[in-house]
Amino acid sequence: MDRRDLIRFGLLAGAAAAVPVGRASASVSEWFLEQPVDSPRVASFTVPLRIPPVLQPTRSDATTDYYEITQREASVQIIPGLRPTPVWTYNGVVPGPTIVQRQGRDVRVRQHNALKVPVSTHLHGGDVPATSDGHPLDLIQPGKYKDYYYPGLHAPAQLWYHDHSIHDTGRNVYLGLAGNYLVTSDAEDLLPLPKGQFDVPLTVQDKFFLADGSIVYPRHDALRPLDQGVFGDVILVNGTPKPFFRVARRKYRFRFLNGSNARVYRFKLSTGEPFTVVQTEGGFLPHPVSVPDFELASSERLSVVVDFSRYPVGSKIVLRNVMGDVPGDPFGEDKTREVMRFDVVSDAADPSRVPADLLPLPEDIRPEESVATRTFEFARNGGQWTINHKPYEERRIDAFPKLNTVEIWRFVNGGGGWWHPIHVHLVEFLALSRTGRGLQPYERGLKDTLLLRSNETVTVAMRWNHFKGLYVLHCHNVEHEDFDMMANIQVV
Ligand code: C2O
Ligand code: CU
Ligand code: CU
Repeated sequence: MDRRDLIRFGLLAGAAAAVPVGRASASVSEWFLEQPVDSPRVASFTVPLRIPPVLQPTRSDATTDYYEITQREASVQIIPGLRPTPVWTYNGVVPGPTIVQRQGRDVRVRQHNALKVPVSTHLHGGDVPATSDGHPLDLIQPGKYKDYYYPGLHAPAQLWYHDHSIHDTGRNVYLGLAGNYLVTSDAEDLLPLPKGQFDVPLTVQDKFFLADGSIVYPRHDALRPLDQGVFGDVILVNGTPKPFFRVARRKYRFRFLNGSNARVYRFKLSTGEPFTVVQTEGGFLPHPVSVPDFELASSERLSVVVDFSRYPVGSKIVLRNVMGDVPGDPFGEDKTREVMRFDVVSDAADPSRVPADLLPLPEDIRPEESVATRTFEFARNGGQWTINHKPYEERRIDAFPKLNTVEIWRFVNGGGGWWHPIHVHLVEFLALSRTGRGLQPYERGLKDTLLLRSNETVTVAMRWNHFKGLYVLHCHNVEHEDFDMMANIQVV
């Protein structure tokens, strides 16, 4: 593989070349490419894992919980020994505070924009009206606010909210605008899975830092980011670099979110201990599946249960990123191989277990009822990212699915060696097939993002439920999305 392939595959860290030329604001930098960036080396497993705070409603009534978030710049201590890092935040923390919605209860979030740039806040995976989706053109200008309405329709799942501004999603997410959004329910409570402090979100991101602790978003020039995708060389989990996490000898549920702009990970434990996968983006798998490792592309989420009871107190288990881990691989020194460490520190009673039956998949996505089959080809044409050979255009609409119908969509990778995680707003889909390597066992649940590797075609079925209006389909390598691998979808 040459260097270009490595970038395509999301394997190469520290390969971007950059020199500070301009500044987006007084304290958040954007770099133009000229010489290699090599972030200061961060010692492994010296920082405790931070758990983002759960956002408390400002008020609640019989049907609805009301929240307020201010998007603002803040300085946060990220790299030990370096100065605090200026970042863009939801309420001053990165990742943003976790919002927890109860199925059946509505949520309304007032988003204040106290940044110097326009923003749009998308609830990724949300089953929400188009006016609350956070379309890339539905911007909140600096100094203004917008009220988002998230009805209590969704089944228990791990969604996330993040910035979605036209052409600036990559920068804005990278600088910190992302947080978890968990939907819970009575049915989920009845499952004997690990709960409370044993149910832990793990948001994995990669970024560049300068020697003074500031964060860097690399760009080709004033307008274009590295449009193949921005890969950092410092791995953060919940905003903490290569942290350690103290666990008891019992089961934990870890809710993984790949919140990176472009990097694809393959996670594996140093002991070879398998992961028991219980949930995909859209909800529970009907039955748990056990896997030795799993792949997660940008925006994919997976809940896994890990049992530490077989390890004596004092054991240390490393979560590794083994993407590209083949004999003779060129990444021996790569800074992105270690993700975090679990330190077994105490005994514990463990009333939890993983039941053979979780929650059933929805029964109304029946491919045989499909009323339309559409094909979307994701490719690079003339130096531009395209869908069906066209870059995004604000006024063009590329599909008009009908409300309350099932459709079958084929996502085709147009080649060139690129990888594309494909995401559709509003709906979740069931993957029916993938050419070549086939579907992974943990992809056989409700998905809203699915990775297309080189030359693959994936076929999915979805039902257009609940809302008419304007949504989007795009690659979730957010630099591909920004330039311009995205299409408007109008539900009619
Ligand atoms: Cu997570 Cu349209 O995005
Ligand atoms: Cu989305
Ligand atoms: Cu892409």
